[in-house]
Amino acid sequence: MSISKAVIPVAGLGTRFLPATKTTPKEMLPVVDKPAIEYVVEEAAAAGLHDVLLVTGRTKRAVEDYFDVAPELEQALEAKGDLDRLAAVRQPTELADLFFVRQGEPRGLGHAVLCAKAHVGDHHFAVLLGDDLIDARDPILPAMIALAERTGGSVVALLEVPDDQIHLYGSAQVQRVTSEVGAGLASGSVPIEPADVVLVTGLVEKPAAEDAPSNLAVIGRYVLSPAVFDVLERTEPGRGGEIQLTDALAALAADPHGPGGGVYGVVFRGRRYDTGDKLDYLKAVVRLASDRDDLGPDFRDWLGGFVASFE
Ligand code: UTP
Repeated sequence: MSISKAVIPVAGLGTRFLPATKTTPKEMLPVVDKPAIEYVVEEAAAAGLHDVLLVTGRTKRAVEDYFDVAPELEQALEAKGDLDRLAAVRQPTELADLFFVRQGEPRGLGHAVLCAKAHVGDHHFAVLLGDDLIDARDPILPAMIALAERTGGSVVALLEVPDDQIHLYGSAQVQRVTSEVGAGLASGSVPIEPADVVLVTGLVEKPAAEDAPSNLAVIGRYVLSPAVFDVLERTEPGRGGEIQLTDALAALAADPHGPGGGVYGVVFRGRRYDTGDKLDYLKAVVRLASDRDDLGPDFRDWLGGFVASFE
């Protein structure tokens, strides 16, 4: 099995980030000087996923345009000899083979993934949420891809969250796996503990803390068996009246010997930002700007003084 396709749903309404997202897709909000979605496409390409399908919607033209060439701008930069900016402007157009499909109405993440069925075909594929940013220094997709190839099943990324936050996520019920299943995986140069690789036996979307099977939250990276499409076609609207990917994954998890091959999880212990959430968005900008070679020194100096002014 060789996994080469990524699906990035960006058709949601972005209500948590209103009013900015009234006209600007949340995936286009800049994180320092690049839109959030560019980091996500970069992550897919870095994991060897060079066929990238963006699931867009009516208000998301800016996303499509961003990944297209901009001849007038490029000519102007070329004429000025501004080659660094020219390279930055061209970068998004060169990252991967990009495809687009429209989700007519935002009927939920599960429905957005179902819109990718014809493009994906009968192969395993990755799903990356367009507003969920995984720090490039802490990659998790390569390990998830390796685990899907090893098991033939689907794989979700899991994050340990405090009990009072689990209601914001899908919560996973998990079991240990045998040491062969969990061995030899890494996040960048950091080995993943075999205990951080689990079998998912159940999933509940946004449960109350007392109903959550664990504090392991599903975050926006998935490697999915194509069997998910059949399940999604039968999945009724769930929480919030939306077709939930979590509900389809729960059905796959409940049938580990079925055509989907079960669902596995990898606990993610790196840096991650939900740029669809205002507070997390601000953290992402500060963190990534602080770490940049060009902006970091001046920004950190200023930030230190700013923080000290509160003391
Ligand atoms: P979210 O729930 O984070 O996105 O969905 P949202 O609905 O845009 O956000 P809020 O809650 O209203 O602020 C996770 C991902 O799934 C996509 C979103 O674009 C986001 O990347 N999505 C969601 C779709 O593509 N289609 C949908 O119908 C729903």
